[in-house]
Amino acid sequence: MLTSQSGSPRVCGGHCPIYEPHLEALLEQASSHLTFTTDYAVGVPDADVVFIAVQTPQLDNGNPDLQYLRSAAESVAQHLRGDFTVVVNKSTVPIGSGNWVDAILREAYERHHGHRPDGRFAVASNPEFLREGTALADTLYPDRIVIGSDNQKSLDVLNQLYRPILNQSFTPPTVLPRPAGMSAVPLVSTDLASAELIKYAANAFLALKISYINEIAAIAGKVGADVREVARGTGLDARIGPRFLNPGIGWGGSCFGKDTAALIATASEYHLAMPIVTAARDVNHRQRTKVVDRLLDELHIIKGRKIGILGLAFKPDTDDLRDSPAIDIANLLLERGARITLHDPVAADRFRREQPTLAEHLADRVEDVFDDADAIVVATEWSHYRDLDWAKFAPTMRSPLVLDGRHCLDADKLTEIGYRYLTMTAPAIPPRSQT
Ligand code: UDX
Repeated sequence: MLTSQSGSPRVCGGHCPIYEPHLEALLEQASSHLTFTTDYAVGVPDADVVFIAVQTPQLDNGNPDLQYLRSAAESVAQHLRGDFTVVVNKSTVPIGSGNWVDAILREAYERHHGHRPDGRFAVASNPEFLREGTALADTLYPDRIVIGSDNQKSLDVLNQLYRPILNQSFTPPTVLPRPAGMSAVPLVSTDLASAELIKYAANAFLALKISYINEIAAIAGKVGADVREVARGTGLDARIGPRFLNPGIGWGGSCFGKDTAALIATASEYHLAMPIVTAARDVNHRQRTKVVDRLLDELHIIKGRKIGILGLAFKPDTDDLRDSPAIDIANLLLERGARITLHDPVAADRFRREQPTLAEHLADRVEDVFDDADAIVVATEWSHYRDLDWAKFAPTMRSPLVLDGRHCLDADKLTEIGYRYLTMTAPAIPPRSQT
């Protein structure tokens, strides 16, 4: 729990428990007005706003597990003392959860305090749209802020809380300068259900945008078009926009998979199907098996081949491994009898803890991934891999074949120095010496 009283930011032995660029430095800078506590009795009583930001992991039926949210809401209710507190759902929760939290708070408040809350709190939704790896910039310089409540007073409190970000009146931290030309941030102040649905609608749309370009990539590969040019030419239409059109092995992470599943699960409660969102999930899942198909096209036999995977995190600049495509790809290759070697510049330690079975295939040194390998798959576009001395490693491989699963490498350079270059869909580009 994080409070706004003065104190020390010491948590987990003074270190950030997660890897997020600039976070540790900013916590250090803000140490005079941040306190961390695990005690509700310290964090809640004097607060004007309580943010609940607990995890909501996915259950087998696609719905998020709300047990942590329930438990947090019950604990918050017991310690509410102020005249008026806004209790904000920051976690991504199914539509309708705001009402559910409100009911839990009321019940727990009455049980604990012996009287009804009588307007002492209101529930609001304030979805976050931050991406891992750029979470701080996304927080300070967001495209928009969304607040939703059926209580006007709580919307006013949140509007005031966010004013420095809305009108960009705060002094930017030196490590995160304000983007040029940015002067104000739009506010969407709406009702509870709309705010909750905005989060799901946005994440599902981004997920299907990626799946869409991956579907286009498949046809681009057949007709001889360059999918990156197609994405550029399509994305320059302001109605479409250039972002989230990078083709490759598809999306992973804790949000897109979970949120699309939750949206489909909620819709089914209302007897609605979500065919577009369902298709986006199917296309994304297929990208992982397609990696094996692409390698089969080139190697003809997978069994016994040594295949290196560069990148285990679901995207660069994070050590998060949740729903990472690299993990599925590694397992699919093992099922086919391949010998695999895995590497990640940042997520290896977490991988050892969270994937003990696959961890035996981890290589400490990137050169061990190349050594005697039949193919290299780039699964995460870490800049570390872009900057490798690829020329040095080519002669150490049995056959210098690289499957660039993220379109992040320089195909011309690689083919010049002897690699056969492969993407998810386009025909392989042979090394220059063979053309
Ligand atoms: C996402 C949303 O972007 C964010 O708004 C929300 O709050 C949380 O979920 P995040 O999961 O951190 O953020 O990462 P994001 O940058 O969205 O990437 C998700 C996945 O999509 C990654 O695996 C990434 O590699 C992949 N991706 C992204 C693509 O394959 N192509 C793209 O064009 C963009």
